[in-house]
Amino acid sequence: MSEQEKSSSSGEGGQAKKITMEQLQEHDKTGDLWLLMDGKVYDVSNFMDEHPGGDEVLTSEAGKDCTEAFEDVGHSDDARSLLPPMLVGELEGAVQKAKQTASSVNQSAQKSGNPLLMFIPLLFLGAYFAYRHMQ
Ligand code: HEM
Repeated sequence: MSEQEKSSSSGEGGQAKKITMEQLQEHDKTGDLWLLMDGKVYDVSNFMDEHPGGDEVLTSEAGKDCTEAFEDVGHSDDARSLLPPMLVGELEGAVQKAKQTASSVNQSAQKSGNPLLMFIPLLFLGAYFAYRHMQ
């Protein structure tokens, strides 16, 4: 029992191999194609012939992030379930990028909130003095 568990867990769930952008771009043609989706790199070389959307759409996404293109088509859960066996690894720096984006969104939310709050009392003060000045 425990041996079985060991052997089944050794294949999946380990550390993901890190793929550089250079490595991704080396696999950019029919028969040797890697795609980047959600920060993960997939080897679709053997799937191209079977792809219901054709192989050209896949080669046109070579070397870039095709997450949006994949989502735009509205791929089914069946299509998504084909992905894990094709996984090669994760793009180096992909997680860091996501973190940076999240913190910059936070920062911009703070920046846009504060000036507004500061202007409200200033407006009242200005209106008060303008009113006093008119009398
Ligand atoms: C490894 C990644 C991909 C897999 C496993 C995959 C799989 C599939 C599958 C199974 C279908 C049939 C419909 C469905 O079940 O959703 C499909 C359809 C389609 N795919 Fe993909 N796909 C992948 C990537 C892409 C990309 C990157 C594009 C576009 C740039 C794309 C464009 C299309 C289109 C246009 C169809 C519709 C074909 C039609 O209905 O005539 N696919 N794909």
